[in-house]
Amino acid sequence: MDDRPRFDAKYLVGIQQVDREHQQLFEIVARVYDNLGANDPTPEAVTRALVAELLDYTATHFSSEEHLMAAAGYPELEAHRGQHQHLLAQARDMEMRAAIGDRHMPVELSHFLYRWLVEHIEASDRKFGEFVAARSAESRR
Ligand SMILES: [Fe+2]
Repeated sequence: MDDRPRFDAKYLVGIQQVDREHQQLFEIVARVYDNLGANDPTPEAVTRALVAELLDYTATHFSSEEHLMAAAGYPELEAHRGQHQHLLAQARDMEMRAAIGDRHMPVELSHFLYRWLVEHIEASDRKFGEFVAARSAESRR
């Protein structure tokens, strides 16, 4: 697939842990692309394991991001948490539809998550990066 997810420097938000986890998330999404695109049909257990790994890691990353935000006193934490929860609810709904036999759903889920991630990183996570950078600049003054 030529639209295979690839992490790019333009997605860096300047917080090491967040950037590392975003890269990891891109790798998992890319692996889902590869596996589901290459095998036709992909064994159901493989699909299920891939989707579960994707959602697990997404949830883990969201909660670590929220912890960092709480620790930094980030004023937009609650709104940001709302975006995370909304995405997880949508993704779990898609996972359920995959589990009841919608064969297109796992691929759709990985596309959806990839698009969401890119937008979310560029709009929302970046703002948090800027907040942290501004604060550390302030404390150096
Ligand atoms: Fe986020």
